[in-house]
Amino acid sequence: MHYLDHAATTPVLDEVREVMSSVLDDNFGNPSSVHAFGRRAREVVEDGRDRVAGAIGASPSEIVFTGGGTEADNLALKGATLKLRGNGNHVIVTAFEHHAVLDSAHWLARQGFEVTTLPVGPSGVVEPEVVAGAVKPSTILVSVMAVNNEIGTIQPVEQIVAAVKAKSPSTLVHTDAVQALGNIPVDVHRWGVDFAAFAAHKLGGPKGTGALFVRAHVPAEPVIHGGGQERGLRSGTLNVAGIAGFGVAAEIAAKEVHEKTERIGALRDRLWAGIQGAVPDAVLNGDQGARVAGNLNLCVPGADGETMLLLLDGAGIAASSGSACQSGALDPSHVLLAIGVSRDLANGSLRFSLGRSSTEEDVDAVLDALPEVVGRARRVA
Ligand SMILES: Cc1ncc(COP(=O)(O)O)c(C=O)c1O
Repeated sequence: MHYLDHAATTPVLDEVREVMSSVLDDNFGNPSSVHAFGRRAREVVEDGRDRVAGAIGASPSEIVFTGGGTEADNLALKGATLKLRGNGNHVIVTAFEHHAVLDSAHWLARQGFEVTTLPVGPSGVVEPEVVAGAVKPSTILVSVMAVNNEIGTIQPVEQIVAAVKAKSPSTLVHTDAVQALGNIPVDVHRWGVDFAAFAAHKLGGPKGTGALFVRAHVPAEPVIHGGGQERGLRSGTLNVAGIAGFGVAAEIAAKEVHEKTERIGALRDRLWAGIQGAVPDAVLNGDQGARVAGNLNLCVPGADGETMLLLLDGAGIAASSGSACQSGALDPSHVLLAIGVSRDLANGSLRFSLGRSSTEEDVDAVLDALPEVVGRARRVA
């Protein structure tokens, strides 16, 4: 099998598996307990916190562990707005955010908040002036993702934050950085964001473990109430083994980002060049330069994306069409529609996402299989 779906999830790294099994085997304590078992588990959690913080340029006290990226996004959007409701009721998101952000914003709209959804142009890169232009005195939160999960485009987060804060210093800015860590260098303080969401399983860590960066002194309401863990911002017994794995994965992701980007970028470019040779009318979605090294998202006119996926799967190749988080949904990708791709063309989308374990053989396998896959998909369309 050839796995070209690293944006959906990544294979667990050996180093992560090792540290997680040692915690599961020998360190079962509850990190909230005061006795020795609890203290040992607490050490693991704090070591994970140090590593995650180090990987994103934060202080350990600015990390709130969550049950994944979706929960981190929900905490940022709901936690910030519910806390700041007295200061205003306007929230800004972009049209191509992940559903963890978009659906949280829809929920806020149902609670009476005013939500502006900003359009994104064909490049798939959000312009700072467009975001700042939508900011009003009542704007309490802006949310713009750092890297889009479908088309891989990298957003100018630092410039967006600067433009928003120049217009309204008290407006808080969240970035969904789930697809950023491991794919681009991440430094939350350089970006200047107030919140940033991360998920371990996108970088060789375990599923169901994530974090929200909450800048020091930035206020937020908890969304999950209970035992008061994570400074009261996220109750629930901590996933000690998951946090240990996340810490190791984050450290490796940050250390290897440049080397990985170079190697994977070359593989991705070879894949795109080969596809253009075999399917000359294939269209690349989003800016070619401003995207993460592993992402290739394209549309094949006259072919159905789901059909191509099944045929590729039959040839031993795992890719994706639209967002994997929504597989089963027949609607064309909201991301492609948001950047102006027609519904017809968007129905023929394919995403290949390469990662740390990708090889030349993976690229060769796609290039061998694709002409027949496209031909058959076009015949049944
Ligand atoms: C950009 C983005 N945000 C949020 C999520 C959700 O993260 P999780 O799967 O950890 O809930 C994903 C996962 O696909 C994502 O790509």
